[in-house]
Order: sequence, then structure tokens, then C-alpha cells
Amino acid sequence: DLIRLADYQAPVFHVPRTSLDVALYDDYSRVTTTLELERRADADPAADYVFDGVELALCRLEVDGQPWPKAQYDYDGERLVIRGLPERCTLLTEVTIKPHLNTALEGLYMSRGMFCTQCEAEGFRRITFYPDRPDVLSRFVTTIRADKARFPLLLSNGNPVARGEEADGRHWVTWEDPHPKPSYLFALVAGDLACLEDQYQTGSGRTVSLQIYAEPRDLDKLDHAMRSLKAAMAWDERVYGLEYDLDIYMIVAVSHFNMGAMENKGLNIFNTACVLAHPATTTDAGFQRVESVVGHEYFHNWSGNRVTCRDWFQLSLKEGLTVFRDQCFSADMNSAAVKRVEDVDVLRAVQFPEDQGPMAHPVRPAAYQKIDNFYTVTIYEKGAELVRMQHELLGAERFRAGTDLYFRRFDGQAVTTDDFLDCMAEASGLDLQQFRRWYDQAGTPHLAVQGHIEQGDYVLTFRQWTPPTPGQPDKQPLMMPVRLALFGADGQRLPLPDGSTETVLVLTQEEQSFRFPLHGQKEAPVPSLLRGFSAPVELDYAFTTEQLHFLLAHDDDGYSRWDAAQRLYHAAVTRLLSVPGEAVRAAAEDEAAALAPALRQVLARADDDAAAAALLLTLPSEQALADRLPELDVDGVHRAREALRAAIGEQLSSLWWQAEQNNTLAGPYRPVAADIGRRSLRHCALAYLAAAGDARLAGHLTVLFQQADNMTDQLGALRLLVHYGLPGADEALDAFARQWHDEALVMDQWFTVQATVPGETTLSRVQALLAHEGFDWRVPNRVRAVLGALANANPTAFHAASGEGYRLYADALGRLDAVNPQVAARMANACARLPRLPEGRRALLGGALRGLLKVPRSANLTEVLERILASS
Ligand code: ARG
Ligand code: ZN
Repeated sequence: DLIRLADYQAPVFHVPRTSLDVALYDDYSRVTTTLELERRADADPAADYVFDGVELALCRLEVDGQPWPKAQYDYDGERLVIRGLPERCTLLTEVTIKPHLNTALEGLYMSRGMFCTQCEAEGFRRITFYPDRPDVLSRFVTTIRADKARFPLLLSNGNPVARGEEADGRHWVTWEDPHPKPSYLFALVAGDLACLEDQYQTGSGRTVSLQIYAEPRDLDKLDHAMRSLKAAMAWDERVYGLEYDLDIYMIVAVSHFNMGAMENKGLNIFNTACVLAHPATTTDAGFQRVESVVGHEYFHNWSGNRVTCRDWFQLSLKEGLTVFRDQCFSADMNSAAVKRVEDVDVLRAVQFPEDQGPMAHPVRPAAYQKIDNFYTVTIYEKGAELVRMQHELLGAERFRAGTDLYFRRFDGQAVTTDDFLDCMAEASGLDLQQFRRWYDQAGTPHLAVQGHIEQGDYVLTFRQWTPPTPGQPDKQPLMMPVRLALFGADGQRLPLPDGSTETVLVLTQEEQSFRFPLHGQKEAPVPSLLRGFSAPVELDYAFTTEQLHFLLAHDDDGYSRWDAAQRLYHAAVTRLLSVPGEAVRAAAEDEAAALAPALRQVLARADDDAAAAALLLTLPSEQALADRLPELDVDGVHRAREALRAAIGEQLSSLWWQAEQNNTLAGPYRPVAADIGRRSLRHCALAYLAAAGDARLAGHLTVLFQQADNMTDQLGALRLLVHYGLPGADEALDAFARQWHDEALVMDQWFTVQATVPGETTLSRVQALLAHEGFDWRVPNRVRAVLGALANANPTAFHAASGEGYRLYADALGRLDAVNPQVAARMANACARLPRLPEGRRALLGGALRGLLKVPRSANLTEVLERILASS
């Protein structure tokens, strides 16, 4: 059953007040809910009151204190329809549910002995009967009851207002949330947790108590999250003028979690992977993820909670905006140029392929079956790019005027992406009518650019088009900002007609030209196009190799330099693909020799920004390289890329060793941008030496592995030892498991390192990992560590010519679906490249996926599989 945006109808009734009483027991929970109901003035007086409720055992239904006659309601396991309710009334329902059997991790469930919830998008209906839709906002009062010894801590949204004891060693706490909210922001936690506490003074002088909860053993891993939270609170005041609005802000870390984290009002619930951080157990990437996710969930307090979504088609209203906000936060906390490249890299490596495949959908989809399947990179990351483009078009000041207007006008309301755009247009005076198309039109636009000299002017011609996507054959031109500079032969930016040396062209038509006077200069400049990746498009410009080297050497835009390097690498690998097997090595040496001067120059300048240098020196992933080919040639790409890496590794060997020495840090580990950058350059150098088969490396890595005082170095060394099958690899793996068997997040890495060893033989290793005593289908982090890693980061194993990878993966999806449909469906997305596979593999993967559908599967998994199979 397809749900359509066009069918949206306002709710029939309001729920001004919601009182929940949740009694937690070992093998069931009893939820008694009292709702004040009010028919909306404009609602059809004949319309029944409908409540969502999934797998609830209804024990009691009363209206205004009286049992409601059975003939006057129906419950079909998903929806409760109550007929004849008075316009205003109080509805009481009592249900029982089974959190201890809930492995889908939606609604109320258990994670390592504690109770917790995940309600977005539609989990609340698994807790009680409710109009479970984001445009019904209600004041919540929640009482939680549980055994006091095992669950001393009882948390919900808002402030605790009363507590007491009961018979049999039980206790209760009542929480009241003063801010009306939709049900998806409800949360409840019961457990025996340790807490890191701190305080934050808001700009207006209020004191907020900050509390981060985790299992007692993880108490020493909460400092970074606390630091990040305080930084995020200060940042939102400074950059957006937005303050926190409750007396308490709580974060709880849970081990079993489907996604990264959840912004429940005043009580965020986080995947442990996104909140715990300690130098010994967490990599640099992990530290940065914690900072960005803590920021993300905090920023939702305004962009999501105070102003929420009218319906789930508007999901990007809160997610796109909040990702944009968290990206800017991380950029301000670290290096902005590096952060931008990392974000663009993800967009192009994951979202562009989504756009090209069967799952392509607009940032505001028009229809869906399961909303869980639309928590995608398109909604999140492309959605963030749309907000970023508005920022680019308006400029920082007018953009801020737009967000001020948005938060003021819609505070306490559930609104749409159009409402957001209206504020941007109104505050800036710009006509953004055409810009709306970005929200409705799926697919990655192509922007073809040509430059030539005409009567002493340099003329740039832009032509845009968007390839068809499923259900959208015809596309319209989009409004897009193209940030641009022109470089003269001396490596300096040329003056532009507006007097600046960098400008933003606004494209609106299918084809447009712009003239730039050259003031007598004869030579065409080198264009630096789409600086900062000012629009999420595929730029087609026939750069010459010389121009790319020029940009890599002279461009002062971090993204643009990185893009030039990427283009050089893509071209080199593509040429190597057409070289016959025996000759690849020699050809790779020639390619490496051609690249070497530029790489040397990057290394020579690396001290200025080691992180940027590491990004410039790193080849695109195998997947990213394969995605640009007419057909997915995973083996060819692997061979070509490794040959090129080996040749670069050899030719620059002494420089790599030098980079390794220069970037070995003395002193204690610090997760600060400068140090993180130097570690990433160091590991980039080590990886080139590994590819080159450097004889001294195995011993060197073993020492690094054993002596590392931080997880970045330890894991980096382990990965290279294992992936290149170096002497000492097995011993290191064993030692790692002995050292960290008790640290789930570290063991996730141990599983991933093994699941990502290139080549078909890894499939039997993956089988063994799935049978390992530490593997657990109920823990999404562990499942992703093995199966997600295989499908997304190990193309030569996953796409093995035998089809073994596909069979293994399909089996796993089937098993997982019975445990956790949301995660199964999400992982099935890895098969969306099906139509791009060579014929033999396409048949094998298609067969494996069709086999899965021979028995009934969850609606989540079925939707994804059917969409993928429809494309083959
Ligand atoms: N709103 C959360 C976040 O982005 C994600 C919730 C995802 N829930 C889901 N069922 N997919 O921070
Ligand atoms: Zn979010």
C-alpha cells in the first residue's frame, strides 16, 4: 500500500494532553494512556477517530471514565477505529506489550538489561494507541514504574515532577514535558546507568543540567560527547541565535540501536558508537563522528522539535537542515576545507549512486510504502546540499534572516519544506520559485561546461540536464549556484566583471553563457568551477591533464584541488583498465611517474594542512572508481587501482617513509584537527608502503600495533597487516581480540577488518565470522560490521564471479529480516547496483534476491527488494 503526499489530510482531532503510565515488568509492560481529545473545528463531523496501534493487546477502553461499548470500536492489529466519540472527551486505553521480545528495536525494547525506546518514525504505535503522526502535537506527562533495585533510573522527556515507592520494591517517577510534541519525539529509559554530569549557562543566563548516561563501565568514555554538547549549545546560540529551552538535557547510550541517534525532546538516545569515545578504544573518525552526531541531535531541538514536520514526506525539512547545521558546526570545530571534501566525498560516493539506481527518489518523495526506507542519503545529505545552495544564493546574512523568520513564524508547528523556502524567499526578496524543483525532482543533474575565447572575451557556456529516474522520465532545468574563479597562467585569480576574483553564477536555464573580458590577455584562463561544490551536480568539463595539474598546484579552493586530483586518478585507473593483464604493472609505473611530481608537491606542502594533503593523496575507493564506468568491473578496478598504488608507493617510497616519520606525534593522544590530520597523513603513507610491498613495513607495523597508545594507530596498523597478509597479521588479530574482547565497539572493528580483506576467499572468512560466538543478529552494529562492510567496502568479495557473495548476502538478509526488518531493508540497499552489473553477475544477484522473496518477508525488505528487482 502506497502512501502518497497528494493524499495528505489534516488530523480529525487534537490531543492537547497525553498522560502515559508505563509499568515495566520482566515479561511484559502495561501501558495506560489517557488522552484528552478535541475534534478540530474544520474536521468532518462524521469522521471516525482513528488511532494507530501495532501488535497491542487491548485490555481496557474507556471514554470519560466509562467503558466504551465493544460494538463501537474495531481493532485490526494496526488501527483502532472508534465510532461515535463526543467532540471533546477523555479516552483511556490500557494495553500490554512485550519489550523483551522486541528485536526490531522499534517502540519499547530492551538493550543489555535496560529499557529504551525508538519512536521515529512510527514506533510509538507499538507502545500505545495514538494518532502517531508528526502533525499531532501534545503535552506529555509520563509515569514510569519498575523494580527499584534493577531500574533505579527512570527517565522520560522534560522534567521530573514527582516520585514515590510502591510495594514489592518497586518505584515510580513522573516526568512532565512542557513543550507540545509529536509522538515520534517521545522517549523512555529505565536502567541502572552511570552518569557524567555538567552544566551549561545559556546566553540569557539560564543554567541547564547536562547528563550523559551509559553503562558504568563506559563512564570514562563520555568526556568527548560532553565537550561536544557544550560546544554545540554555544555554536547554535552564536550562529543561529537559538537557545536550549529545558532545565535538563540528557543523552543515553544504548548498544542496540538501528541508526546513529535520536533527538527525543530533552532525552536523546544514542547508539553507543555515536557517543562513547576514548583514545584507547576510539579512532579519530570515531571522535569526529561523536562530535557531529551530538551536534546533529542537539541542533534538532530547534530544527525538528520546536519546528517539526507536517508529514513524513517533509522529512528532509528537519534532516536536510540539521545535517547542514551539523556540517557547518564540524567545519567550525575543525578544518572547514577538509570537512567539505569529506562531505562531498560521501555525497558523490553514496548519494549519486542512489540517484542512478532503482531507489532514486526526490528529497521530498511523492509516495512510499515504509517510511523507514526513506531515511536515506538523498533525504539527509542531498537535502543538506539544497539548504547549502540556499545559503550560497542568499549569502550568510540573508540566510540567517530566513532562518530567524522560519523559527519565529513556525515555532510549535508542524510544517513543510515549502514553508521553509517561503521564509528564505521572503527574508531575502529572491524569487526561489524555480528552486523548488530541487525538492521534487530526483536524480543528479549534469552540468556540461565549455569555455572558449571570443572577441577577446572568455566565454563559458553551461548546459544542464538531469537523466530520467524511475517514475520521472522528464526533467526540468534547475536553479543552481555555480561558484567560480578564473586562473591566469601565473597561478593568480583573474579579476571578474563584478570587481571580485570569485563569483557565484546563478543558472536557471537549460543553456546559458557568460562572458568574461580578458583585458588583452590572449590565453584562455583555467576555470575553477563549482568551487566548494556549490551545487550537487556532476560537472562535465573536458579538463586537460595539464589543467588538472595546474589546478592541483594553484587552486586555493580545497574542494576544487581535491576534485582535480580525483579526476587525475580516475583517468589513470580508467586507462589502466584497458591494458592487458601482464602489461598493467609497467603501465601503472608510467601513470605513477606522470603523477609523481604533483604528489611530491602535495607532500612538500603537507605541513600546512596534513589532513588536506592526505585527502589529496588518497585514490578514490574501488567502488567510486567502478561507479564511473559504463559497467561495474570490480576485478579490473581492483587490479588497476592496486597496481597504481603499488607504483606510487615504490616511486615515492622515501617520501612516504619521511611522511611517516614527520607525522609521528609525540605526547598524549589528542583528538584535535591538527593531530588527526597528521595521523591520517601518516596512515596514508603507510598504506602506500604496504601496497608497494616494502620489505621493512611488516616489522614496522607490528611495532606500531603493539606500542600504539590510541585506537587510530593500533587499528590502522592491524588493517594493513591483515589486508596485505603481512607476517604477523594472524598474531595481531588474536592479540587484538584478547585485548578487546570486552569492548563491543572495538570488536566491531575486528570483525570489519576481516570482512574487508579483498578477494573471494574472504567469503569463507565471513561465514566463519557469522558463526563466531561474538556475532549476534540482534545487534545492528555487529551485523553492519560484518555484512555491511562486506557489501559496501569489499567489492571483489561481494561481487565474486561465482555468485557466492550474493548467495551468502541474500541468506543473511533473510535471517536478519526475521529479527530486524528495518536493518535488513537498509542493508538490502547495497544490492541497488544490480542494473549496473555485467550480465552474468546481474543474473546471479537477481536470482539470489528473487529467491528471498519466495517466502513472505517484512514490508520493509519487500519494498526495497521489489524496487531493485523491477530494475533488472
Ligand atoms: N531522527 C534521527 C536522526 O537523524 C534518525 C531516526 C531514524 N529512525 C528511523 N526509523 N529510521 O537523528
Ligand atoms: Zn537527524
